[in-house]
Amino acid sequence: MPQDLYDAAVAAMAFSHSPYSNFPVGAAIRADDGKVYAGANIENAAYPEGLCAEATAIAGMIMGGGRKISEIAVIAARAPKCPPCGGCRQKIAEFATAATRIYLCDDAGIQAALTIDELLPGAFDRSALG
Ligand code: THU
Repeated sequence: MPQDLYDAAVAAMAFSHSPYSNFPVGAAIRADDGKVYAGANIENAAYPEGLCAEATAIAGMIMGGGRKISEIAVIAARAPKCPPCGGCRQKIAEFATAATRIYLCDDAGIQAALTIDELLPGAFDRSALG
């Protein structure tokens, strides 16, 4: 179990700004550059402007120089094995490979390891653009 990635997701969740949902989420990515990039959900009074934890972690990865997601751990304070939302599945898919592992966590640790194809079969990707 990649304990460091789990710990990073838990630590990131503490930075969640989620006063509207009271549903803190943390995510941590190990990227192809070997670094760990973490994120939390950041909500907004204009609800649709909020950002998911996976999205903020991906933004950090790209701006930090990472290009591919080797593994990503996601944890939510109030939902064991919180599944990434549909939009986050699409965002993860953009930077995933067949080998990418997506870990769904709870307060005891990593509880499931999934591939992006399991989470988003038949994804719309660049090949669909022709
Ligand atoms: N949320 C995430 O951060 N990631 C997901 O994949 C599911 C949902 C956030 C968005 C919102 O801030 C809160 O959880 C409740 O939907």
